[in-house]
Amino acid sequence: MASARRFKILFVTSELFPFIKTGGLADVSAALPQMLAELGHEVRILVPRHGAIDNRKYKIHDVVRLKDIPVKIGDKEALFSVRSSFLPSPKVKVQIYFLDNLEYFGSRKSLYIDPISGLDYQDNDERFIMLSRAVFELISKLGWIPDIIHCNDWQLGLAPAYLKTLYKDEPQFSQFKILFTIHNLAEQGIFPKSTFEKTGLPESLMNDEKGILFNGKVNFMKSALMFADSINTVSPNYSKDIIKDKDMTGGLNKILEKKKSILSGVVNGIDTDEWNPEKDKYIFKQFSSKNIEEKIENTKALLERFGLKYEENVPVIGLISRLNDSKGIDLVAEIFPKLMEENVRVLLLGTGEKKYHRIFEKFGQKYPDKFALYLGFSDELAHWIEAGADIFLMPSKYEPCGLNQMYSQVYGTVPIVRETGGLVDTVEKFSEKTGEGTGFIFKDYKAEALMKEILRALKIFKDKKNWHKVMKNGMKADFSWQSSAKAYIELYKKILG
Ligand code: GLC
Repeated sequence: MASARRFKILFVTSELFPFIKTGGLADVSAALPQMLAELGHEVRILVPRHGAIDNRKYKIHDVVRLKDIPVKIGDKEALFSVRSSFLPSPKVKVQIYFLDNLEYFGSRKSLYIDPISGLDYQDNDERFIMLSRAVFELISKLGWIPDIIHCNDWQLGLAPAYLKTLYKDEPQFSQFKILFTIHNLAEQGIFPKSTFEKTGLPESLMNDEKGILFNGKVNFMKSALMFADSINTVSPNYSKDIIKDKDMTGGLNKILEKKKSILSGVVNGIDTDEWNPEKDKYIFKQFSSKNIEEKIENTKALLERFGLKYEENVPVIGLISRLNDSKGIDLVAEIFPKLMEENVRVLLLGTGEKKYHRIFEKFGQKYPDKFALYLGFSDELAHWIEAGADIFLMPSKYEPCGLNQMYSQVYGTVPIVRETGGLVDTVEKFSEKTGEGTGFIFKDYKAEALMKEILRALKIFKDKKNWHKVMKNGMKADFSWQSSAKAYIELYKKILG
């Protein structure tokens, strides 16, 4: 039997729940390290101290010996300091290092997009060059040498290139390997060629063939694909999708194809302390698969909160999403008038493209009795919707993994999803014949296909016996991080040989 090896892992991410979150990456960045630590490994996390992170609330303190560490960004020398805190879980201690630099992070109101212009911050290249280089500067200052640096998404895309070039001869870095996790290929960190100079990488990387350029531009995601020791995506099915699909990958599929031997998929889990209808601290009334009738109390409270009237046997459809095309919001907008002809209530929570804000605000005015929305982010409301809705809509065009469809299932909120990416790995189509399955799945990315599947769900909703079956099947599903964290440990082992 192989002896259990205890790994040292530095997990690097640009967002981390509950400190700061724009998407599922934040949830994974907390839950996975937490579970790895519970399984006996030593994990530390590095994340920028974004301006919106509350130092006091989270007891984030200075680290005296980690002050004013220099990083080169082009000709500039920028300084960062490190602050520290822990993940909030009482079970194990996971230390967090916050990269503190006022100019690039501490003074910004949001993570990637300038709230005033609505566009990406113009210096996003410099900001994430800093984060990627800080990984190595931090390690050398700490004298704590991890076995694995686990980097996530384009914001850390340069780190593998740095390890393989600038830092390759440093003895203390010679042992560790980089696992790069792709949470989303729709965001790649693409910058003009002139960004190259700021990276400080050797000239030999300034090309499309062997370097970090893609179509003549600096592409942080491509850099990761070229230089990481191992690459994974957040679901097995997405790892297959991206080899085939040019659209989904902006053309990076060819490179992914070449990297097939080091590319794998590990499905995300969910944090079962946070997302559990039996102990959810936000919702109106806790419930379980043994007393699903009590879910109705949440439905009533939810509708009241959104100013809609509760009526028995009228299904409530929930939607929590970034409002953009990749999440299938265009399809939802297209079917909306038709959907409003049905006897339903629809609730929407999310933010995104301005055009969708306008479209759904208009629908809100047009259908005040059936539809209500909250354009913003609220963790609490997300819990309320997952607990109170009957059906959850997730018609994504692309979905690396998706978390809400899993949250929905454990709350007995039946998901309707499109057959793509991680949705395929986490939702099983319900069959009236066998009584098996946890949700509804449609294939073609077309408004009619979505509407057809909604109508099928609404029909089964009327048949309480069948509906309870599909609800209960979902509530019983095991989405805990245990097995996925173990799959990551296997990956680390494989990389380290
Ligand atoms: C990104 C993906 C989503 C995934 C999440 C966490 O937000 O779009 O599908 O669940 O990352 O990995």
